[in-house]
Amino acid sequence: MQPERPPVLQIQNLTKHFLGVTALQDVSFELYEGELLSLIGPNGSGKTTLFNCVTGFLKIDGGRVLFKGEDISNLRPDKIALKGIRRTFQDVRTFPEMTVLENMLAAVQQHQEENLIARMLGTSRIHHLEHTATERARELLDMVGLDNVRHLEARHLSYGQRKLLEFATVLMPDPDVIMLDEPAAGVSGEMVTHMMNHILNLNRQGKTILLVEHNMRLVMDISQRIVVLDYGRKIADGLPRDVRMDEKVREAYFGH
Ligand SMILES: Nc1ncnc2c1ncn2[C@@H]1O[C@H](COP(=O)(O)OP(=O)(O)OP(=O)(O)O)[C@@H](O)[C@H]1O
Ligand SMILES: [Mg+2]
Repeated sequence: MQPERPPVLQIQNLTKHFLGVTALQDVSFELYEGELLSLIGPNGSGKTTLFNCVTGFLKIDGGRVLFKGEDISNLRPDKIALKGIRRTFQDVRTFPEMTVLENMLAAVQQHQEENLIARMLGTSRIHHLEHTATERARELLDMVGLDNVRHLEARHLSYGQRKLLEFATVLMPDPDVIMLDEPAAGVSGEMVTHMMNHILNLNRQGKTILLVEHNMRLVMDISQRIVVLDYGRKIADGLPRDVRMDEKVREAYFGH
């Protein structure tokens, strides 16, 4: 599809079963550097399961996942995150009792702990790191329109605001690959537009994005390529206009 770019993520024959349910069967596709690829499919087709397998939240039964050529199959979620793949959750996972700003800082805490020795070199360095992290957090919060509520506990935010917060937290460590599981679901009309604009802007800045989204119009508008799952199998992989016309895709969605 885009041979001039290297693949960042390679999903090869990914297979996952749950007690009699085949959630994923031999799913293969590649995500290229700088690409905005959407993963779509009817409810229960395996999209979230694929996210969970790629990011280490579920054990893979077959196949493998390569990140920048390295086999990362079945590594722990925190290890995979540290390598540079960050994801959001379909059901939004923010820390309700922590403030908006604290949620942002928590997203990079792990990175800083990895640098514990560096941190022990001196308090001025720690202060510098914290200052840098806070500055970045506030920039990102400003981008998603949440800087003015940064001292509010996350539980006081609306659902849409929590989605925006979670989106901003995954950007904190400046990951190579951003995986978004229905970032605009359950969000009001205006916020959907904001969210999609943020995603597009990120991609224009060169970020590689794997997006799961049900809103077909949005998916068709913003994706460079679309992969379609149905009953855990890949049934299409191509340009939006081709996928839209694909017989198997129409069958999966509309039953004709
Ligand atoms: N932890 C689990 N245990 C058992 N079955 C599961 C589990 N997670 C997912 N499944 C099943 O695997 C299949 C794929 O589910 P998955 O959540 O990946 O679909 P999805 O494409 O994300 O759907 P949706 O669009 O509704 O979010 C479904 O049949 C689902 O019931
Ligand atoms: Mg899902």
